Amino acid sequence: MHMNILVVGGGGREHAICLALKASPRVTRIYCAPGNGGISQLAECLPIMATDVEGVTRFALDNAIDYVVVASDDPLALGMVDVLEDAGIRAFGPHQNAAELESSKVFAKRLMKKYNIPTARFESFAIMADALRYIEEQGAPIVIKTDGLALGKGAIVAETIEEARAAVLSMMEDMKFGDSGARVVIEEYMHGREVTVLAFTDGEALIPMLSSHDHKRALDGDRGLNTGGMGAVCPSPRYTPELEKICMETIFRPTIEAMKAEGRPFRGVIYFELMLTDTGPRVIEYNARFGDPEAQAVLPMLETDLLDIMEAVTDSRLRELDIRWRSGAACCVVMASGGYPGDYERGKKITGLDSVPKDIIVYHAGTKLKDGELLTNGGRVLGVTATADTLETAIDKAYAAVSKIAWDGVHYRTDIGRI
Ligand code: AMP
Ligand code: GLY
Repeated sequence: MHMNILVVGGGGREHAICLALKASPRVTRIYCAPGNGGISQLAECLPIMATDVEGVTRFALDNAIDYVVVASDDPLALGMVDVLEDAGIRAFGPHQNAAELESSKVFAKRLMKKYNIPTARFESFAIMADALRYIEEQGAPIVIKTDGLALGKGAIVAETIEEARAAVLSMMEDMKFGDSGARVVIEEYMHGREVTVLAFTDGEALIPMLSSHDHKRALDGDRGLNTGGMGAVCPSPRYTPELEKICMETIFRPTIEAMKAEGRPFRGVIYFELMLTDTGPRVIEYNARFGDPEAQAVLPMLETDLLDIMEAVTDSRLRELDIRWRSGAACCVVMASGGYPGDYERGKKITGLDSVPKDIIVYHAGTKLKDGELLTNGGRVLGVTATADTLETAIDKAYAAVSKIAWDGVHYRTDIGRI
């Protein structure tokens, strides 16, 4: 059947999903709510916010949409997939009760404890004085997180007790992260390297994608503030077949089984953020969706039709599928606005895209088209992805393309995939 598809979200990840879906011979038309300047070149962008559950549902009903792909975290947490299905529209993504794996860290941590899934020791606090006392007892380094979603910026790795106290105060007293900080999680600090494994699952079968890792800090050498992610590579050289086997047995399968046992079967993309510690891989956190920018490095490596996979997930037929990947590697370098993740200006003119070689994919994260000109319109602006036979070549190709693109105040890391 030929299908009209609506993708919900408007960042680089959604651009990567739209582009992968566009390659499917079964896709007639793609809509994106709200999309961005780059997505508008291959899909019809709608003036509907990703969090507008009612608006998305109404549009889907009125416009013969066959399938909705809910790609970003907020609408998943709001239960968009449940609402769409209640209205008779097929949708990709976990139900609200399964998306809690991402939207509530307390839920995720309790689940891991109950089912013996390796992760950092933790306590959660709704009362600030208790949180501060716990920090004194535990000492530093220690990690403080808001319970709810905070655009990937709600985690603070505190090197000293003073920093940890300040983090708790900013979340619980100044409410710097709004309601998501009403409850905080305080975790044991885990030492190691990070790896991301995204997996397709229909609640029973689980098929991991190629591994990846992203670089979260704003500046070279993993310095500066945590961001949504400044770049990613796929596959991650840090992830070995032995590790994959251990993760499958101790983390991936147990998580899917746990969700089923809790009456919250997870259908969609599950994101395992892992810390490779001396005592084995442990979960840093789960997400209920593709990563951003991991999707921009992983999806270009996918050979199988993404729509076929998504529908197999929705229809609980994933185990019948054989998912194929290209050999070689991919590197995505994020180009951001100067100042991100703090304050930054928008509306800067982007130049040089015409000089980028044709085999490079430039994903748009925060751009808009105005009077035929492409302008910056967000913190993360572009994700420049190259694929090649080796990771080194992919990295070099991505940076060669990045060097052609410019705008006033542009900022990017120069060491993606190199450290
Ligand atoms: P999160 O928002 O949970 O993904 O955390 C953001 C980043 O903080 C992670 O990518 C890690 O680099 C770091 N982090 C989070 N939790 C821990 C932990 N328990 N130990 C060490 N680093 C952590
Ligand atoms: N790259 C981190 C995330 O998507 O949450």
